Amino acid sequence: MLADSYKRPVKDLRISVTDRCNFRCTYCMPQDEYEWINKKEILTFEEITRLANLFVGLGVEKIRLTGGEPLVRKDLDQLVAKLAVIPRLEDLCLTTNGSLLAEQIEALKAAGLKRVNVSIDTLDNEKFKRMTKRGDLAKVLEGIFAAKKHGLKPIKLNAVVERGVNDDDIIPLVEFCREHGFAMRFIEYMDVGNANNWTSDKLVSKKEILEAIGARYPLREIGRDQGSAPAVDYEFVDGNGDIGVIASVTEPFCASCTRARLTADGKIVTCLFSHGGHDVKKLLRAGASDEELVNLISSIWTKRADRYSEERLQAMRSANYDPKSHKKIEMISLGG
Ligand SMILES: C[S@@+](CC[C@H](N)C(=O)[O-])C[C@H]1O[C@@H](n2cnc3c(N)ncnc32)[C@H](O)[C@@H]1O
Ligand code: SF4
Repeated sequence: MLADSYKRPVKDLRISVTDRCNFRCTYCMPQDEYEWINKKEILTFEEITRLANLFVGLGVEKIRLTGGEPLVRKDLDQLVAKLAVIPRLEDLCLTTNGSLLAEQIEALKAAGLKRVNVSIDTLDNEKFKRMTKRGDLAKVLEGIFAAKKHGLKPIKLNAVVERGVNDDDIIPLVEFCREHGFAMRFIEYMDVGNANNWTSDKLVSKKEILEAIGARYPLREIGRDQGSAPAVDYEFVDGNGDIGVIASVTEPFCASCTRARLTADGKIVTCLFSHGGHDVKKLLRAGASDEELVNLISSIWTKRADRYSEERLQAMRSANYDPKSHKKIEMISLGG
């Protein structure tokens, strides 16, 4: 079995289908203008599918489509249809900001999509507009309920919690999910990319998030799905649903990280906090055989030694951490 230098297998592949986005979430891509990847550099659906098949052959069980905003990529359902039929792929999921979901859900479902994660950080219209700079909460809610109506399950909602911004939205989001049967996932605010001016005091820790929820709705720990999922899951003691918390800052899970990322322009990235990727597109477009591509992917994975979040925690504990000292790829190009 393929394993990296810490004996971690490759089990998950996150595919960024575009770096473009119709939102400008302040914690992710706060600038108004970006230099987008040139269209001809973006992998075609055929190229993505070929690489996805090779990854599955190397042990990947789960694929997540992400971005940027994946639903701004034209005809995404056609890619879903190609990936959904890969033999031995156990799970295909989409992470979206939900704004275009209502209009695309029927085609996505018909193409074979079974579940979806939708990012939603607040249920307050004005705050939603402030946090996303361009988003319309009503459209996102419409998308979430359209997914429910079309039978997608589970529907997970993701919220990044930022101190002084939306920490007072934790309970309303939990109550919304309990009422409608969605699974809430809270994400610790991370120092992804280089533009969000992250500081550790903006972070609301997993411990604080759980205390706030548990005081109102007692929780019982379930653990990590498959032992390697980023979220630690909890169920409500009253039996009305579950939540999860992704604590990459305060409780790093590098030791069990089995995720590879494929950027929209065909680079393999081995960590969310990497400063660069490995170009596979060049070989792919030069007419390489499957064997040559598998050899390249295997050699990248075998050398993988990333444990950025563990190193960050050590540095934060010694008050020695400057997020700007480590230049990273922007989240939009590598797929969150
Ligand atoms: C980069 S987005 C791409 C997919 C889609 N546009 C969306 O928003 O769901 C993937 C996930 O990363 C999360 N994310 C972005 N910036 C983050 C940050 N600084 N800290 C933690 N999570 C972040 C988003 O909230 C989202 O759930
Ligand atoms: S979190 Fe998603 S929706 Fe928000 S700016 Fe980033 S890519 Fe776009």
